[in-house]
Amino acid sequence: MCGIVGYIGDRECADVLVDGLRKLEYRGYDSAGIAVFQNGKIVVEKSKGKLDNLEEKMAKDGKPSGHCGIGHTRWATHGEPSDINSHPHGNKRVSIVHNGIIENYKQIKEFLIAQGYGFESETDTETVAKLLDYYYDGNPIETIGKMMDKVRGSYAFGIMFRDFPDSLFAVRKESPLIVGLGENENFIASDVTPILKYTKNYYLLEPGEIAVLKRDGVKVVTPENEEIEKEVLTADWDVDAAEKGGYAHFMLKEINEQPSVIKTTISPRIQDGMPYLEESGLTIEMLKNYRRIFIVACGTAMHAGLVGKYIIEKLARIEVTVDIASEFRYRDPLIEEGDLVILVSQSGETADTYAALKLAKERGATTLSIVNVKGSTIAREADIVIYTHAGPEISVASTKAYSVQLSIMYLLAFEIAYAKGKITKERCMELTKQLVEIPDRLSEVLVLKERCQFIASRLVNADSLLYIGRGLDYALSMEGSLKLKEISYIHSESYAAGELKHGTISLVTDDMPVIAVATQSDLLEKTISNVKEVKARGAKVTVICKEDAEIGKDVANHLITLPVMEDVLMPMLAAVPMQYIAYYTAVLKGCDVDQPRNLAKSVTVE
Ligand code: AGP
Repeated sequence: MCGIVGYIGDRECADVLVDGLRKLEYRGYDSAGIAVFQNGKIVVEKSKGKLDNLEEKMAKDGKPSGHCGIGHTRWATHGEPSDINSHPHGNKRVSIVHNGIIENYKQIKEFLIAQGYGFESETDTETVAKLLDYYYDGNPIETIGKMMDKVRGSYAFGIMFRDFPDSLFAVRKESPLIVGLGENENFIASDVTPILKYTKNYYLLEPGEIAVLKRDGVKVVTPENEEIEKEVLTADWDVDAAEKGGYAHFMLKEINEQPSVIKTTISPRIQDGMPYLEESGLTIEMLKNYRRIFIVACGTAMHAGLVGKYIIEKLARIEVTVDIASEFRYRDPLIEEGDLVILVSQSGETADTYAALKLAKERGATTLSIVNVKGSTIAREADIVIYTHAGPEISVASTKAYSVQLSIMYLLAFEIAYAKGKITKERCMELTKQLVEIPDRLSEVLVLKERCQFIASRLVNADSLLYIGRGLDYALSMEGSLKLKEISYIHSESYAAGELKHGTISLVTDDMPVIAVATQSDLLEKTISNVKEVKARGAKVTVICKEDAEIGKDVANHLITLPVMEDVLMPMLAAVPMQYIAYYTAVLKGCDVDQPRNLAKSVTVE
């Protein structure tokens, strides 16, 4: 989704803006632009395509020079990606950048046309820029307040008024925006990554608050111009976390970070060998009493929920329903007081997951969010939050966030099972001990990259691919399949292995490679029978299994073997080869691994 940066200070603004926008590239975008105060005038440069295009254009036109400005990466919603539709929008008096969607922009546009305004772009944002101009009476706060009263939808805005060349303004509702606090320089940004190299201190802007940034300070006020006392937060991500650190892609770096981020995520949640979630406000007593559990999320986070369902139901014997958030919010779900609704989200800003959270709260359920980005909307609005400590995940394809989400699912499953008396304290400690060993076992799995690279070389020319598995392996293979299709653009489907012969096996030919996940000992024989079925129909099969799995030599074309752990924990290990296979296939195909086409990292629109 769109990215916003803004700067006021002594540095050359255009450089800070473009550098900041590069940090936000991961969010996904199709055009970019900046506006800078130059000799009292607002100078705008914008271009369709990547930031390199913008830089080339500025090299030709002359880069705007000044010390205050706003920048934007646009992920098109209203109107195709083009120079004209790129942000900033406005006129000589006002310039804005926007993340979000203005629902009533058509009415506003008609109103403004009737007042004599003309429009250049097809965007909803331009209507807000012109509306600000229409309301402008020399008082920016009052003007912004009037605009907020009129506009419906989601937004984060960075705003410049020509008459105030020493000030930047920002306001948000639903879309994220932070205010970075430096020494004689201040920033706005969609998240903390653009500011990390200058400062770690920031404010989280609450909906409806207006930030006024000057070089030497920031004031946050209500639309009535009453000053608001803000808490200064400190980012705990370091600068390196948002850099590639010698890896070819962020995705590869993030795959390799998994042992350390899992350790950082679980260590503070284990005390005396037992899961300890009380610091988040989740007591044993509460866990004992929930009647039903719902896990609601999108994409990869939803897949983490599917693994969670299997392990919570298996160990704690409590009903768990997993829902895709965009379905949950409209299916009038049967939730009520006494239910626990778990929202899983890396970004904490996903629009559908947020809507599901609001619905669950309305219906009286307890809401628990598992979120990576501190202070994000879903984290703040859930009754209870458990933060995963993955650090910034820059690649659009989620890898380390998935693993840390899984690790929290395990802690929850163990603790609920113990709270409900379904496992003894000794068994709970034993399981927890095995979870603690995961980072070491994962380091052994990470060395399988050449093997996975080889398998990727066998898949690269396929048009379509099938992932199969049973039980936990099926839940896991859904994530493997998503990973492959989103970055390599090869169609793939994940299928319950036992369901194949009810229709899908008719697709299997020697042109359809199959990846079978077979890590569950009690289901191994059954899955291997399914592997034989597809192999008999010509499919080239890769089997991912434990090192000690007894599989006949001719059953699979390729084998990836993993360190042996208890079945229930195997998804933590088996995820890695699937991530690698997707990664290397995409690399071999020459795809843009970290920023796949059409995708955005944080999906803040419905
Ligand atoms: C997966 O690689 C994607 N990035 C996507 O499916 C993602 O998991 C989904 O959009 C949910 O995002 P969230 O975790 O930020 O809510």
